[in-house]
Amino acid sequence: MLTQAIKGVKDILPADLPKWRYLEDTVRRLFSDYGFSEIRTPIIEHTELFARSIGATSDIVEKEMYAFRDQGGDEITLRPEGTAGVVRAYVEHKLFASQPVTKVYYMGPMFRRERPQAGRLRQFHQVGVEALGVSEPGIDVDVLAALVELFNRLSVRGVELHVNSLGCKDCRAAYKAALKDFLMSRIDTLCPDCQRRIETNPLRALDCKSEHCKAATVDAPMMSEYLDDGCRAHFEKVKQGLSDLGIDYVIDPRMVRGLDYYTRTTFEMIAVDKKGAQNAVAAGGRYDSLVEEVGGPPTPGIGFAIGVERLLTMLPETGDGLKPPQVYIAAIGDDATRKGQSLADELRKCGIYAERDYSPGGLKNQMKKADRSGASLTVIIGEDEMAKGAAVLRDMKTREQAEVKFEKLAGEIEARARLL
Ligand code: HAM
Repeated sequence: MLTQAIKGVKDILPADLPKWRYLEDTVRRLFSDYGFSEIRTPIIEHTELFARSIGATSDIVEKEMYAFRDQGGDEITLRPEGTAGVVRAYVEHKLFASQPVTKVYYMGPMFRRERPQAGRLRQFHQVGVEALGVSEPGIDVDVLAALVELFNRLSVRGVELHVNSLGCKDCRAAYKAALKDFLMSRIDTLCPDCQRRIETNPLRALDCKSEHCKAATVDAPMMSEYLDDGCRAHFEKVKQGLSDLGIDYVIDPRMVRGLDYYTRTTFEMIAVDKKGAQNAVAAGGRYDSLVEEVGGPPTPGIGFAIGVERLLTMLPETGDGLKPPQVYIAAIGDDATRKGQSLADELRKCGIYAERDYSPGGLKNQMKKADRSGASLTVIIGEDEMAKGAAVLRDMKTREQAEVKFEKLAGEIEARARLL
């Protein structure tokens, strides 16, 4: 006991820290580019805050909170997420008066007493953002763009952005009633949790993990059919904005989220592993009633949180866990290797992080290494390229390739690296 940490709680050892620091540095730079300032709120809050904001019938509040009565008799909870504390601080310090649009980010430990398993801890870390005071769909698009850009900057691939709209209080009431009727008509096939929650929180049945509930809700009515004009127009503008920025997304009408404060836009960044299993690495959405719910003036809000431990497992293997190279140089043959060496040197002197294979194998092998390194661009130089005096420049994300003359190569890479 004495030499074992609590179940689901982990030490972060010195060898792990370069990856954590790299992620934190990247996050800070990116959030600052998007206009978010850091906020640090306490790890403990009044239990009532979480019960009111996340929802008394949510799994988090019902089963997972580390809640206790302190020596003075106060009901205290270790924060299970960051949004409630940020909203509490926003109201307590009347930030709405001094900063009508408040954009903040945070990072730190969160606590949920869940069953520990791969990717699920009892003390885990989140980095998140919250934007308060803007109801226009433009902020939804900005928040989503920042999330997508973080995955780009970290060269994390294999993720899908899923989006949905949960409507507002008004249109959701009609939807809930329809869903309740539907669930009542097959109550015997639902798990005990979903049966119990039909009255209080019927939406939860849509993301219940039980196979019985999944089968029973295949034909359930969806929120999308019940959105009112305002919510529908808002969602259309968000989707349009994402398309304008070239951001790919999947509409996921069954996404209901596990916290009750959401309204309108909701989203999850889903990691799809090699076996096809899906796991949310980040999630968030709008919460237009939450500020009022905790005692502030009516103020819209939107944000997300990323699970740091989950994201860390997805970083490309760069060996030392540090930032991926911008360019990987794959050279085949002695002459090409020399050319590769001088190109790497030229690029590094221009401040571009170029990497190459010091004991190069065949092209296939080097391309595998290039892919694993997380580099955005790969330069390929073989015998043919040496003869032509031009290398192949490959964009690793779009897989587009172009032939570029040796003398123009460094300039072209520099120009492209500036855009990355
Ligand atoms: P959430 O979906 O509960 O949302 O959590 C966000 C992310 O935290 C998850 O996608 C996951 O990566 C990570 N996470 C959650 N639980 C665990 C766990 N037990 N172990 C490891 N990682 C975990 C929220 O927390 C909202 N506050 C997000 C938000 C911000 N919505 C608006 N603003």
